[in-house]
Amino acid sequence: MLAIDLTGKRAFIAGVADDGGFGFAIAKALAEAGASICVGTWPPALTIFQNLLERGKLAESLKLAGGRSMEFERIYPLDAAFDTLDDAPAELRESKRYKERGDFSIAGAAARLREDFGESGLDIVVHSLANGPEVKNALLDTSRRGYLEAVSVSAYSNIAMVRQLSPLMRPGGSFLSLTYMASERVIPGYGGGMSSAKAALESDTRTLAFEAGRRHGVRVNTISAGPLASRAASAIGLIERMISYTRANAPLTRELAAGDVGATAAFLASPLAAGITGSVIYVDNGYHAMGMGVEGPGTVNGER
Ligand SMILES: NC(=O)c1ccc[n+]([C@@H]2O[C@H](COP(=O)([O-])OP(=O)(O)OC[C@H]3O[C@@H](n4cnc5c(N)ncnc54)[C@H](O)[C@@H]3O)[C@@H](O)[C@H]2O)c1
Repeated sequence: MLAIDLTGKRAFIAGVADDGGFGFAIAKALAEAGASICVGTWPPALTIFQNLLERGKLAESLKLAGGRSMEFERIYPLDAAFDTLDDAPAELRESKRYKERGDFSIAGAAARLREDFGESGLDIVVHSLANGPEVKNALLDTSRRGYLEAVSVSAYSNIAMVRQLSPLMRPGGSFLSLTYMASERVIPGYGGGMSSAKAALESDTRTLAFEAGRRHGVRVNTISAGPLASRAASAIGLIERMISYTRANAPLTRELAAGDVGATAAFLASPLAAGITGSVIYVDNGYHAMGMGVEGPGTVNGER
């Protein structure tokens, strides 16, 4: 039987702070396949996440097939806006939610992974985070600062993670990020430079696949996911409209589940995908293939 077997592999998933987004669903799929899971959580969301876990509020979501429950081997604080702790402003470092967290930069997470699991203790890295402070602004109305922040947190952070974590990867290592088709087509309302950040992320996926592939033998891919009402997406404000529009117009009208992306991520992280790198993989019920929507009621060439 051809199975996805990640037994003995360790994953680091950056961008998990609740059970509602793609990061959590990917963690579950990788755990289901046997991998051990470490996550990186944004410091402002870390206490709430830890409380939810400790109080058993996520017990239902953590359940895996066969009665097991997903456990996180480590939960590291991670603010992907900073490559090193010195890059973080003193005011932020001293603020309530960051102060007691130690080194929350990308270098800090890499150092902790090295400390906890040795020089080569990692097989899978997932970048499942994004932030654009002006996401509600049209691109035309986005400030330089907001635009650069969106690209910094949502795209550059992936480069920094590939750079800092590649040396820790065992042979066959796999990097994955999450993108959205606003990078290549106009999605009204997906503003603040987030569309530009996703375009950068996708282009970087190709270049990083070549550079880190040659240097470290790792693979680098990105999943272009259809809309999901995660916490981050709900902040955009249009998510329900994006979901219903996509559902009405995609080749498949089934509901897109976070688990669809989780399963594809598990495949991409596995040796079954040993020949796939530098790719944008669409998990969107096929919506990316459409050039025109199915307008209103009725049929087009007999298709409903
Ligand atoms: N939800 C969608 O419709 C959709 C569609 C396509 C792609 N994506 C992408 O999927 C990825 C995961 O998002 P999601 O929608 O599952 O939402 P989510 O809320 O589960 O994940 C986003 C995470 O990013 C974290 N984050 C924000 N700023 C950070 C920072 N500076 N450092 C570290 N972490 C930070 C948040 O705490 C959160 O945990 C993102 O890259 C997003 O753009 C989402």
